[in-house]
Amino acid sequence: MPRHIVRLVLIMVGFVLLAYGAKKFFTVDSFYQYGHYRGDSVAEIASDKPKYKGTAYCASCHAEQFATWSKGVHNSADIGKVVKCEVCHGPGGARDVGDVFQASATGPDHPQNMKMVVPADSRTLCTLCHERLTGRPVEQRQIVVADHAGTQQCTVCHNPHSPRLNLVSTVASRPADAALGKVKAAACAGCHGAEGVSVNLPGPTLAGQNEAYLVEAIKAYSTGARDNATMTAMVQGASADDVDNIASYFASQKCESALNPERQAASADRSTASKCVACHGANGVSTNRSWPNLMGQSRDYLVNTLKAYKDGTRKNGLMTGVAKNLSDADAESAAAYFVGAGCK
Ligand code: HEC
Ligand code: HEC
Ligand code: HEC
Ligand code: HEC
Ligand code: HEC
Ligand code: HEC
Repeated sequence: MPRHIVRLVLIMVGFVLLAYGAKKFFTVDSFYQYGHYRGDSVAEIASDKPKYKGTAYCASCHAEQFATWSKGVHNSADIGKVVKCEVCHGPGGARDVGDVFQASATGPDHPQNMKMVVPADSRTLCTLCHERLTGRPVEQRQIVVADHAGTQQCTVCHNPHSPRLNLVSTVASRPADAALGKVKAAACAGCHGAEGVSVNLPGPTLAGQNEAYLVEAIKAYSTGARDNATMTAMVQGASADDVDNIASYFASQKCESALNPERQAASADRSTASKCVACHGANGVSTNRSWPNLMGQSRDYLVNTLKAYKDGTRKNGLMTGVAKNLSDADAESAAAYFVGAGCK
């Protein structure tokens, strides 16, 4: 055999020995124990706790939030769109306390350690999915943030656990008789005006008010949910039919908003009122038939009512949220804007 071939064979054999040694040296023992990977890592991977726990886990302790969320639009399982608790509150896996929750003074089961993040800035959170972007499919409901919410948090108006605002009137339309209502309404004229327009009278304007709202307001006085001694005395003993008929009468009386687009644009108080227009309309006519129109109300009534929501004497989930963030100057300014609506 020529010498150069012998050298070549020797080099090749040396190379094979080196490669075999390297394989032995660099490969861990558990390789190929299960397959073409390191066997030890299987146990490591298997021992990883799930990062997300799912909504059923949260339900066991937060029944109230879970119930609200379950009925809300963020749990639309039928169309495959479910925004789970941990999307907003962060993964729950890290603070697992085992199968049985034990009340204890310290340690992982202590309430202080159960706390998960409460999203403080809903404007950042909600806009992740709801801000209008070019190319975002229209089926995903979108808003232009500046026009829709101004500088307010989304949670001022939307309950994060059930965000859809119910814009459909909740009052079933029973046939009501405005003519009969007019007769009963005579008792109200001294304070609300014979036609329901209150100028320099002690009561607010009722003319042109949403019928469903009037029905609810009168009921609230009679049950005491709305606390006003005069009004409670006035409506005590009115039958359900009376209430419907009186509401129908006042709702059908004329009060149209004088706040046309030119006057809206000219109002110095427009920016304060931008906090209200999503619900009460830019002209004081509300977007929801069961919410009150603000047209026709006096400045005093508007200011005093906002104060009542703020200090809790008048209660309403939506308005309390709005009023508690309103300074006295803002309340005056918003009132000044809506007074401009008058009754045409
Ligand atoms: C084993 C019971 C338990 C489970 C399960 C549980 N929590 Fe809690 N959570 C608590 C307790 C207790 C607190 C403290 C309550 C307090 O401070 O009033 C708390 C606090 C919170 C808070 C803060 C509330 C606040 O006002 O600061 C949030 C948010 C929260 N949990 C969300 C969740 C979510 C989301 C899940 C599901 C991934 C979940 N929790 C699962 C018991 C639980
Ligand atoms: C779309 C986002 C979102 C989802 C989904 C969501 N939350 Fe919340 N959650 C919030 C926000 C925002 C707050 C703070 C509310 C506030 O500031 O008034 C909050 C507050 C809370 C609180 C504090 C107490 C309270 O009610 O204010 C608890 C507890 C809580 N959420 C539990 C849950 C549980 C349980 C689920 C699932 C069933 C869930 N959340 C789903 C956004 C969400
Ligand atoms: C992870 C994405 C996501 C986040 C975050 C989220 N949403 Fe949603 N939202 C959805 C989906 C999906 C739906 C239901 C399907 C639809 O109507 O597009 C929905 C529905 C809604 C609706 C009902 C729209 C309608 O049909 O009338 C409102 C209102 C809403 N969300 C407000 C909020 C608010 C307020 C927050 C913040 C607290 C928030 N969302 C956070 C995805 C999200
Ligand atoms: C001043 C009260 C108010 C604030 C603040 C507010 N919303 Fe709304 N939002 C409404 C009202 C009222 C509606 C329903 C009327 C309508 O369809 O325009 C609505 C509807 C929506 C809808 C459904 C729109 C559609 O096309 O069906 C989405 C999504 C939404 N809001 C998201 C948000 C987000 C995200 C924020 C925070 C950046 C926010 N909202 C802040 C009052 C508010
Ligand atoms: C003695 C004067 C007086 C009489 C009479 C009176 N009201 Fe009132 N009414 C008031 C005052 C004052 C308020 C505002 C109370 C408040 O702030 O809750 C009011 C408020 C109302 C409201 C709520 C309006 C709103 O915008 O929220 C309704 C509805 C109403 N009255 C209906 C009636 C009816 C119907 C009658 C006749 C059966 C009547 N009132 C008789 C003084 C009166
Ligand atoms: C998310 C919707 C929403 C927003 C935003 C809102 N309101 Fe309201 N407002 C309501 C609802 C709903 C009621 C009826 C509450 C009740 O029955 O007590 C109401 C009631 C009122 C009333 C009482 C009307 C009456 O006839 O008694 C006044 C005044 C009022 N709002 C003023 C304002 C002002 C001013 C702003 C802005 C700073 C504002 N609201 C923002 C929903 C809203």
